[in-house]
Amino acid sequence: MTSEAPLRVGICGTGSRGVMSFAMLFDKREDCAVVALCDPNHVRTRESAKQLPGEQACYTSLQAMLDDASLDIVVITSPDYLHAEHAKTALGAGVHILIDKPLATTAKGCKEIIAAAERHDKVAMVGFNLRHAATLRRLKEMIDAGELGRVFMIENREFYHGGKTYMARWNRKYEWSGGLWVHKGSHDFDVFNWLLGFPAPRRVTAMAGVSVLTPDHLPFEKVDGKPVGPSCSACAYADICPDYLPFNDAPWGQDAKEVDQYTKDLCIYLSDKDTHDNGVAIVEYDNGVRASHLECFVTGQSDRLYTVMGEKAQAEVSLTERTIRVRPRWSGDIVTHTLPEDSGGHGGSDPQLVDTFVNVVRGNAAVPSTLEHGLMSTAIGEAAEIARRESRVVNLNELI
Ligand SMILES: NC(=O)c1ccc[n+]([C@@H]2O[C@H](COP(=O)([O-])OP(=O)(O)OC[C@H]3O[C@@H](n4cnc5c(N)ncnc54)[C@H](O)[C@@H]3O)[C@@H](O)[C@H]2O)c1
Repeated sequence: MTSEAPLRVGICGTGSRGVMSFAMLFDKREDCAVVALCDPNHVRTRESAKQLPGEQACYTSLQAMLDDASLDIVVITSPDYLHAEHAKTALGAGVHILIDKPLATTAKGCKEIIAAAERHDKVAMVGFNLRHAATLRRLKEMIDAGELGRVFMIENREFYHGGKTYMARWNRKYEWSGGLWVHKGSHDFDVFNWLLGFPAPRRVTAMAGVSVLTPDHLPFEKVDGKPVGPSCSACAYADICPDYLPFNDAPWGQDAKEVDQYTKDLCIYLSDKDTHDNGVAIVEYDNGVRASHLECFVTGQSDRLYTVMGEKAQAEVSLTERTIRVRPRWSGDIVTHTLPEDSGGHGGSDPQLVDTFVNVVRGNAAVPSTLEHGLMSTAIGEAAEIARRESRVVNLNELI
């Protein structure tokens, strides 16, 4: 319980993340109230408001919401390519911002947000929720306490069953998401940067492509005269496609879809995409540490598997199993730590993220995931996108 007035929160972008994660989490708190929603789709804001306790004013633009709603906080959960514009507008209106990852789709966009934040004395924090996952917090403590010795190499292999949806909506396009090395990988590059204590990344290379989610790899026999797709909800092969995943309209409903024709369930095989379904990126830091990040979205598994190599021991992590196995270099005394299950979105990391942000706004903590951290992870992702498109190694000083 707090004696201070609840913080007035506005959500910019009332889609999955804005409503089902952040609005719900802020509204659960006694020290915050979600009082405003904005989204160009007026049905989506109206239907979102019905999900939330209290009253929310609905707007179709961020500027209108800022002009009218007397907000303390704006949570930015619009598509990635709009983050820079929305962050600059919100900071210019003198509100605190929590901006979901990636900070922006380009290093240039991130630098513009940083410049705007320097002109306005408000909290600006990036929503790197993975850092709040209990298993990774424990791993970070081990590294900082020197339990592994000096870390010289780190890897992550991400297998993500749900990642096939990156072929089904706006994040399938480079122009809207910055590509998956930015949209998705910015999480992972941030985890590397954070675990390593933020050394400067020096150079990046990457290879990636679409190996399976193409029209010639449909997982069923096509019948002449019976077209596939274009979306799961409209597909004649719905009953036999193992990837059938119709867009769940809840809580927005079919009416919301009719306003902007936004379809979240385009056929993952046929959709026009310029992203990847698998790839590997390699980063080298100024202090000589090397990191590799593999991501694959053609899988039945969902896990992030980290290996951190130290001079004294290596740590092997499974985020889904919540385990850290420490394997000493000179003995067979392997120890496995199992972290307790956390409740809440993304293994408890979303509520932790919101809690931390509110503490920062109340002046009780420093920003843990800064705009500079957002810039660093976006820049690595952007470098990886350039590297894979131009088949080369990209020096980070080309971008930052
Ligand atoms: N941290 C995480 O784990 C995580 C997970 C998923 C998504 N995200 C991020 O959250 C953000 C939102 O993703 P999502 O999955 O909720 O997408 P979504 O498509 O479900 O929602 C985006 C919403 O933004 C709205 N929008 C479009 N233009 C707008 C504008 N000009 N002003 C305000 N709203 C606008 C859309 O109408 C839509 O309702 C993205 O930046 C994404 O990268 C983060």
